Amino acid sequence: MRRQWIGGNWKMHGSRSMASALAGAVAEARFGDVDVALFPPFPYLREACAACAGSAVAVGGQDVSEHESGAYTGEVSAAMLRDIGCTVALAGHSERRQYHHETDAMVAVKVAQALANDLTPVLCVGETLEERDGGRMAEVVLRQLGAVVAHCGIAAFERIVVAYEPVWAIGTGRTASPAQAQEVHALLRSQLARDNARIAGSIRIVYGGSVKPGNAAELFAQPDIDGGLIGGAALQATDFLSICAAAG
Ligand code: PGA
Repeated sequence: MRRQWIGGNWKMHGSRSMASALAGAVAEARFGDVDVALFPPFPYLREACAACAGSAVAVGGQDVSEHESGAYTGEVSAAMLRDIGCTVALAGHSERRQYHHETDAMVAVKVAQALANDLTPVLCVGETLEERDGGRMAEVVLRQLGAVVAHCGIAAFERIVVAYEPVWAIGTGRTASPAQAQEVHALLRSQLARDNARIAGSIRIVYGGSVKPGNAAELFAQPDIDGGLIGGAALQATDFLSICAAAG
């Protein structure tokens, strides 16, 4: 049995006081068999790290630079995240791919940067509605996954969490059905199994896209869904904690 994983991606929401209060409420909660991580906006990482210090809740960046250091205005390196107490980082969220033109190759380098700095990368993959309707879902998610396997090697997946987030389900209220999500999770796992069956069997593949307290349990009950990456419902402690309870 894989231990489930739940991440709360706050995106560009909140304030300093909200970050302390929300991270504090999550840090104080008692969880079952589930790993929990929070991804606040960069300016509030310190508040969240302070609130979660001494708890089992991990804190991480919503993005990480593909560069180690240098003249990259606006970027935040993996070493900086690690330095302030982060232990995880998202890489390749669809909003980064879409609005910041992150390519598969860039995402692979971000994953490598995270790993090199002892951060657990959460590799996000997922197809758009147009790609799904055009029958290209498998091609797209396997291409996104394959770029990271090619750059980092299969052994790196020992330390990676994969998040399947269909773009058409993010923030839209339109969740993938448990069967639709399960199909993609099984596809991703079987692709990894071609390279290493043991790693494929132990890696956490989590689902993201309009997960709410009301649909979480059914999604997490699928055999290849090992938790979730939560956006909107991560902004309220009660909703987020009830999703964590559905996983644990
Ligand atoms: P959502 O976002 O839960 O608001 O759909 C998920 C995500 O983008 O990680």
